[in-house]
Amino acid sequence: MARQIKIFDTTLRDGEQAPGCSMNLQDKLEVAHSLSRLGVDIIEAGFAIVSPGDFQSVQAIARTIRGVSVASLARALEKDIDAAWEAIREAENPRIHTFIATSPIHMEFKLKKTPDQVYEQAIKMVKYARNLCGDVEFSLEDASRSDPAFMYRVIEGVINAGASTVNIPDTVGYATPDEFGALIRNIRSNVPNIDKAVISVHCHNDLGLAVANSLAAAQAGADQIECTLNGLGERAGNAALEEIVMSLHTRGDHFGMATRIDTTQIYQASKKVSQATGVRCQPNKAIVGENAFAHEAGIHQHGVLANRATYEIMTPESIGLPHNKMVLGKHSGRHAFEERLQYLGYPVGEERLNELFEAFKVLADKKKTVSDRDIEALVGGYRNIPEAWRLDRYVINSGSSITATSVVRLLLKDGTKVERVAIGDGPVDASLNAIDKIVGGDDIRLEDFNLAIVDATDTGTDAQGASHVRITREGRTWNGSGVSTDIVESVIKAYLAALNSMNYELEQERTREEA
Ligand code: KIV
Ligand code: ZN
Repeated sequence: MARQIKIFDTTLRDGEQAPGCSMNLQDKLEVAHSLSRLGVDIIEAGFAIVSPGDFQSVQAIARTIRGVSVASLARALEKDIDAAWEAIREAENPRIHTFIATSPIHMEFKLKKTPDQVYEQAIKMVKYARNLCGDVEFSLEDASRSDPAFMYRVIEGVINAGASTVNIPDTVGYATPDEFGALIRNIRSNVPNIDKAVISVHCHNDLGLAVANSLAAAQAGADQIECTLNGLGERAGNAALEEIVMSLHTRGDHFGMATRIDTTQIYQASKKVSQATGVRCQPNKAIVGENAFAHEAGIHQHGVLANRATYEIMTPESIGLPHNKMVLGKHSGRHAFEERLQYLGYPVGEERLNELFEAFKVLADKKKTVSDRDIEALVGGYRNIPEAWRLDRYVINSGSSITATSVVRLLLKDGTKVERVAIGDGPVDASLNAIDKIVGGDDIRLEDFNLAIVDATDTGTDAQGASHVRITREGRTWNGSGVSTDIVESVIKAYLAALNSMNYELEQERTREEA
């Protein structure tokens, strides 16, 4: 019987801490739903004390997501633990995750505390957290560079104080698999009460060893692995959830361990995170990269056609990767479209289905065939939030020797249409400037913009452009995606999606304040 490994997902906390990966409330909720469909055991929803926005997202996830534990991170300080508890108390299974650093370098230079002071604070704060919440996890930050004897003492103390999970992070990605495995074995044999707690590990990828270290730790007796989708996280990121899960799944014969994860949800969840953060995976990323299941060399293609197992150790279906079995076109009906959406893992309600089907028909008119990738891009460009501004039409005038001009007309919520003209450094800049004039966006900054071509055919002429933008206003960030066979239109749509997301969130905050 395979040993069960708990998957603790920290995409919404450590993943979100990565530069350029911040997500807003709506995005975080959607990612949390994907994580719940995946079947992770614990969702670390954020770090509640960090900002009111972080607090609200942790609280919203705790209130909405069921069937999974919801954790908030907290330094070993009363005010952090109070904020964490306040944010997660309505979760079905709340968990406070509190931490303090135990390595000499962190204690001396960051905390400016002696080991005895750190020990006392850890014990006191675990007791404090346990008075609020029945499930407390304690992390020894920078454990892999800590003095083992001190670490054993802290672990024994926090377990006696009520921690039911003890997390051993390789905070700076310094350990190697043999060392890290040995560390876990040594903890098991040197901490007398270790059987009263679950040992967890949390590995960073600075040397590219995060997954290997996590697996070595699991082999040495750790029962929980902390990881993120697409390996997002501070600096070089955290151990990638999809790599850990598929390693255990594909090499069950070797590891003798299993997780609760529904692997067929991996591709979907990875896409959701890319859409929410605007950060795409590198093409050769293991499991979820564009090329992870592509066979380019003739000799490989020949082998795969004869027997897929020649070059495939796992099937694309096992991670839920859509394949272009049947293409849809302009004669395809609503029913076929709805079925395809369901097959791709996008169950949508009536209203959204109508919108998407309309967009599909427009696309099918422009492209001869509509692939699964096209449909995914369409869905990715749609957000389930009310639109304050919608693109009605636009006209651009640009060229190599003239200043680009764009006239954009938007349809407002009340049905009125507003049109403005603007110039800019190229058609995209001019169009976004025209939109800013309509929405009054002087203080809105375009932080990031990227464009990918979806499903180009041999000639590439009927491909779709999938744009992603990130905007900021007063230090807060919103993302938006847009797709179109016209590249400029895809950027306009992405920009409007980000603006609508901002508007919706700010409106909701105002309503809450007024209530
Ligand atoms: O990397 C780390 O040490 C952490 C802890 C706070 C768990 O993220
Ligand atoms: Zn970390």
